[in-house]
Amino acid sequence: MIIRPHSSLPITLLLLSSLVSAQFNCHVNVNSLNFNLTKLAGEHAATRTRITPPSTMDDTLRFDLCADLKPQEGVAEADQCASGTRACFTKVNKKDGQSDRVVAVIPLVQSSSLNPRSTALSSPKGLALIFQGPSYPSLPSESPIPQYLNLTLLCAETASGPTFLSYNGSMVDVEWSHPAGCGVGDSSGGSEDENKGGEKKERVGSGIGWFFLVLLLAIIAYFALGAYYNYTTYGASGVDLIPHRDFWQEVPYMARDVISHLCSSVRPRRASARGGYIAV
Ligand SMILES: *[C@@H]1O[C@H](CO)[C@@H](O)[C@H](O)[C@H]1NC(C)=O
Ligand SMILES: *[C@@H]1O[C@H](CO)[C@@H](O)[C@H](O)[C@H]1NC(C)=O
Ligand SMILES: *[C@@H]1O[C@H](CO)[C@@H](O)[C@H](O)[C@H]1NC(C)=O
Repeated sequence: MIIRPHSSLPITLLLLSSLVSAQFNCHVNVNSLNFNLTKLAGEHAATRTRITPPSTMDDTLRFDLCADLKPQEGVAEADQCASGTRACFTKVNKKDGQSDRVVAVIPLVQSSSLNPRSTALSSPKGLALIFQGPSYPSLPSESPIPQYLNLTLLCAETASGPTFLSYNGSMVDVEWSHPAGCGVGDSSGGSEDENKGGEKKERVGSGIGWFFLVLLLAIIAYFALGAYYNYTTYGASGVDLIPHRDFWQEVPYMARDVISHLCSSVRPRRASARGGYIAV
């Protein structure tokens, strides 16, 4: 009889999933909350306009958390982020009667170094993601300034568009209300009931696994210790090593009796058919 402990499967899956979530792949697991960000896939943009007479300045963040941005058509290559960028921040200056002028292009998230600092927010509920991009040149006398994207996903029933909050020369703050910001708990204290149900089922399953594992170990221990006892005490060998051998030899007959008794309660008990084999 081979019993595979059912419990090792969930443990393996758990180890595997924590390895996978170490690399950002549109799924974030933090504080035992799972955030499935695939609902946020696709290109999005958040813009703020600053009035800077005699012109206006459009600060725009284009981003796609789950894939690299596609090159923008009709925009010169120097006026957009290189390939392999997932979040690109641009400042575009607009002036009446003149064509738009891209004055800054700042990559904030690159797929080669995707490793956001993620924090689960409790009030309001949500997820804070901070990505670091390459440094951007500053004044000639100073060293380049590290650039960050601070994306705050707020848990909401309905999705709104992302909102550009601010840029202070180093960090772009974007806020987004979206159902994807509502984490799904994978332990008690989580939020979604259906998930808890699945979890409970798994726990019961692994409990059964443990029960059979312990039972198997007990059986093995019983036979091993019994054989050892028979060997040391009686110098037994071969079949005689089996502890309580007489009893175990009777087991098939007893099982047959029980089955035949159950199957045909009409017929008389068949115990006698064995012809007094019972060893007392
Ligand atoms: C995340 O959501 C997408 C659809 O929204 C689904 O196809 C995918 O299986 C989900 N991933 C996980 C790990 O739940
Ligand atoms: C990120 O932006 C939020 C506002 O959306 C702000 O409350 C938070 O402090 C910012 N995080 C950092 C590290 O600046
Ligand atoms: C911009 O804001 C971030 C977070 O609030 C802060 O850590 C950083 O020092 C600020 N940078 C500048 C240049 O003010």
